[in-house]
Amino acid sequence: MQTVHTIAELRAQVIAWKRAGERVALVPTMGNLHPGHIRLAERAREWASRVVASIFVNPMQFGPNEDFAAYPRTLPEDSRQLAAAGLDLLFAPGVAEVYPRPLEAMTQVIVPTLPAVLCGASRPTHFLGVTTVVTKLFNMVQPDVALFGEKDWQQLVIIRRMATDLDMPIEIVGIPTVREADGLAMSSRNGYLTAEQRAIAPTLYAVLQATAERWRAGECDYAVLEEQAKTRLAAAGFHPDYLEIRRADDLQRPLLEDIASPLRIFAAAWLGRARLIDNLAIGI
Ligand code: PAF
Repeated sequence: MQTVHTIAELRAQVIAWKRAGERVALVPTMGNLHPGHIRLAERAREWASRVVASIFVNPMQFGPNEDFAAYPRTLPEDSRQLAAAGLDLLFAPGVAEVYPRPLEAMTQVIVPTLPAVLCGASRPTHFLGVTTVVTKLFNMVQPDVALFGEKDWQQLVIIRRMATDLDMPIEIVGIPTVREADGLAMSSRNGYLTAEQRAIAPTLYAVLQATAERWRAGECDYAVLEEQAKTRLAAAGFHPDYLEIRRADDLQRPLLEDIASPLRIFAAAWLGRARLIDNLAIGI
């Protein structure tokens, strides 16, 4: 596996592949890789003959009091895992390569409406940072396809909308969440959990499953289901941020007539230093 740190080196390689008629996949990450990321890298082979992963802890998507400084940076170990997964190229730029001017002086990519709900309600600039950096990564790599994990379902919906609205010729593929044996969705932030919190953490997924089962059994009062699920999370030791049932494709609140359309239940909850998120299909 080749590792490059500059856009010029990256472009030289990707152009050579494209001239040879190869299809290129991109797996964008912030590093501190876990099996969920490796699954994305492996699945990418189904869509392309060359697979590029990027590792960039993107300052633009962290709020002023968030964990940008503390976010784990583990490049040597990440690089070893990606090489073992058979990746072709790792792009690991520094901040000055991606943002040569101060962040506030850089052009930003704004998707309307979708970023205002769920995670965006408590992280108001987060998705602006995501859409800006993903656009830049798409322009740098020029992939045919890009893969994202469904754990970040809102991010996936926003990136799909952005790619459609901006006519980006890139297929956006979502890959199902990879879970620990006890159901906890894999996340780089799980490393923030103490042993005691780690034992509680799978309750998040258990509550989503229990709520989905009740919905399937015919309990269709969203507000009641959401309140009871949040109460259960709080009783387990979480500080719930949100727990909401929304339409899967546009993240709007379901109307009565949406009862048979694809719905998902979304949750974010703090457990100590870790803000855990998860989501689950509850509709058809
Ligand atoms: O999902 C992530 O890890 C990040 O939001 C992404 C897509 C790599 C952009 O920084």
